[in-house]
Amino acid sequence: MRERIFITIGRSALLCGALLVVLLTGTVAQAAGPAAGAMPPAEQNAPMWSRGQHFQLRGEIVSVAQDGIHDPTGEAVQILQQPYEAMAGFPRDDAGMIDWVKTLRNHLIEPRMSVDGSTDGGEMFPVDFDVLLKNTQSMPWVRFPHLPHTEWLTCANCHPAIFVPQAGANPISMSAIVQGDFCGVCHGKVAFAPTLNCGRCHSVPQDVTLLR
Ligand code: HEC
Ligand code: HEC
Ligand code: HEC
Repeated sequence: MRERIFITIGRSALLCGALLVVLLTGTVAQAAGPAAGAMPPAEQNAPMWSRGQHFQLRGEIVSVAQDGIHDPTGEAVQILQQPYEAMAGFPRDDAGMIDWVKTLRNHLIEPRMSVDGSTDGGEMFPVDFDVLLKNTQSMPWVRFPHLPHTEWLTCANCHPAIFVPQAGANPISMSAIVQGDFCGVCHGKVAFAPTLNCGRCHSVPQDVTLLR
């Protein structure tokens, strides 16, 4: 029998995923004691991979104390459940990252709307429509799916600050994403990294029949 793991996740206001749990608990850890070698704020906003922090990839076993996110001298690192224990049975994507979309769908986690359970930050309502982004040069097109996003996030997390809600209205590019803009506001921080799994976004083969 599988044990249900109880994780507190503030969904709408604070984005999501266990990385968020890590971030939340990271805050606790930092509150417990002044961080030795704490990161300057600018670096904290930089993408995960550029800070030597990681996604608990398949095959990697990195403890809370060594993850580069928590203060190793804080008391919380002693009592927090280890990610590789908590997330042992979670589904993985092709790059070995935890597939949080499947994890949610399979009811392995049951995130709250917010830290205190209130809906002050707005209610989520899942909508199911995709936007096809075709400005991808020789790469397959990008399918942006609203459904898996709006299961975690309110519309206001993205519209209008990150994306004007109109197909084609945003100058999205790969370099902007890798630098932490557009999709990169989340991907590479609380959602799967843009550098590790191109195919999860570039998932639609270009319509070569049009070229004939
Ligand atoms: C989080 C989703 C995501 C991931 C992962 C991702 N891309 Fe992209 N990519 C995009 C989006 C969105 C665009 C812009 C499409 C548009 O504006 O029509 C883009 C555009 C591009 C372009 C077009 C030129 C440019 O610079 O914008 C290339 C080439 C590209 N990606 C390559 C890659 C490669 C290689 C990988 C893997 C290392 C990758 N992408 C991973 C979302 C992603
Ligand atoms: C994770 C970010 C994100 C969230 C959350 C989100 N959207 Fe979007 N939305 C996008 C992106 C990306 C596009 C495409 C923009 C582009 O093509 O430049 C888009 C496009 C749209 C469009 C324009 C579609 C078209 O064909 O012109 C509408 C309308 C829209 N979103 C409504 C919503 C509503 C309503 C919600 C909440 C239920 C929502 N979105 C939540 C990212 C998001
Ligand atoms: C506000 C945060 C946010 C933004 C901005 C965002 N995403 Fe996501 N995205 C998420 C979260 C959270 C998930 C679920 C966690 C995960 O899969 O790592 C997700 C999952 C996905 C998935 C997986 C869907 C599935 O069914 O497995 C795709 C594809 C994706 N995003 C593409 C994009 C693209 C393309 C953009 C930019 C046009 C984008 N996202 C912008 C937060 C965001």
